[in-house]
Amino acid sequence: MLYHSVCQRSRVLALPVGVRSILRHHIVSRQYSGGASQSSLTIGGNTYPSDSWTNAPQSIIAQYDRRLHVQPNHPLSITRRLIESCFPGFQHHNDLPGVVSVDQNFDSLGFAADHPGRARSDTYYINKDTLFRTHTTAHEVEVFRANTSNGYTIAADVYRRDAVDRTHYPIFHQMEGALTWDKSQFESNDHFLHQLQTDLKNFKSPSIEVQDPNPPFHKESNPLQEKYHSAIEAELIGAHLKRNLENMAVTLFREADKALKASGQEAVLEDKDPLKMRWVEAFFPHTSPSWELEVWWRGDWLEVLGCGVIDQPLLIRAGVPTRMGWAFGLGLERLAMLLFGIPDIRLFWSKDARFLNQFDESKPIRRFQPFSKYPAAPRDVAFWLPKAGPVVAETPATTSSSPSPAGGNATEPTLSETPTFHENDLMEVVRGTAGDSVEDVTCIDNFTHPKTGRQSLCYRVTYRSLEKTLTNEEANTMHEQIRQELVSRFGVELR
Ligand code: DAH
Repeated sequence: MLYHSVCQRSRVLALPVGVRSILRHHIVSRQYSGGASQSSLTIGGNTYPSDSWTNAPQSIIAQYDRRLHVQPNHPLSITRRLIESCFPGFQHHNDLPGVVSVDQNFDSLGFAADHPGRARSDTYYINKDTLFRTHTTAHEVEVFRANTSNGYTIAADVYRRDAVDRTHYPIFHQMEGALTWDKSQFESNDHFLHQLQTDLKNFKSPSIEVQDPNPPFHKESNPLQEKYHSAIEAELIGAHLKRNLENMAVTLFREADKALKASGQEAVLEDKDPLKMRWVEAFFPHTSPSWELEVWWRGDWLEVLGCGVIDQPLLIRAGVPTRMGWAFGLGLERLAMLLFGIPDIRLFWSKDARFLNQFDESKPIRRFQPFSKYPAAPRDVAFWLPKAGPVVAETPATTSSSPSPAGGNATEPTLSETPTFHENDLMEVVRGTAGDSVEDVTCIDNFTHPKTGRQSLCYRVTYRSLEKTLTNEEANTMHEQIRQELVSRFGVELR
């Protein structure tokens, strides 16, 4: 769930992905046919004008503000509280509203104008200036500006157009944390450095192996913010950050281990294959140097969080130029799935008492007991993509498939007759039509005709409700609706 570099996005939540994600990025187009069909949208009691950037569907708007991360005894809330407990003295912000400006979500954080996270294929826009936040980092500048504490966390729901499978849901939850020091509060720079060194000496060292082959910063791949930070400042802040997050990860994974042992599963595995961690260099627009923390747990390296030394221009924009420090961000679902052994991300949204009654925040974490697994009903859909039109710049004027208003600017690029197609468009048709009755959508064939050059795709849609057995007829009806929507919205030709 992290925005990595300018050419790659992935989620902290994402488990290893196969053919689906390899294919995903080859089907990218810059156009999208989901322009506004109403002149305004009402979200959480506020009304927003829509425009040609609007692509937020009703299915998302309807789920806005469920606030799962603060529901008592909800596994996401329990996970949040466990993380908060690792940062005593921090202020915890859990009520920041999910509709934010493009400036908050991207510009104020230094996202490049062409960063893929901004694309309408990946982000839910309410209109060209307003969107559903794609990460909790959207609130960093305002929280720094308010300047009410040295340390804070932010937990919130975030929104991204994405795949349909057991670890991806278009709404998920992130947690952000930051700690800064106001250098103007210290007698001298030496006093500031001394404070960092004293903290470092006092930290307990993590009880497990930590691999960190990285230098404190690297001229090309992970630079020091030379203009603002001395080498020793960046080095000490980086070390401070790493010790804090290592200890947090140990707390979380020890809890996960305890829960697993209490359930009687794999009781001896820990001794043979102990927990360990490693630091990996990373890139984020809002930190430098930056890293990711990975944890070896039960046979896999899991990406747990992204972090780094906060971009100083960001702090300057927030009106706190004398502060410097570190920040991190992580996905709560992935950690909660691992802590509680929750096998499907849709379960977090369940209102079924058989799910909700299993969690108790006053007790040690216990593994989730699956209450039933209903049969899967897989159905395939194969189609030829329409011949793609010219790829035009992604601007409000050119992204809508709705007819240009009379008197439109004649110099604007025109759209091709048939809208082109992004895999996330298909995901959204599936979600809009079948909702949580779909467990997974996977591309199983991608073929380009050698003579005509036309591209054909085949997707397997696996229907499986968490709450009941779907009849053949129910699955067929949903599937037929999806097929027809693909034709009417994207001009594909069914095979
Ligand atoms: N905003 C990042 C994302 O969603 C996560 C992140 C990384 C947050 C590093 C941070 C940070 O505060 O320092 O992809």
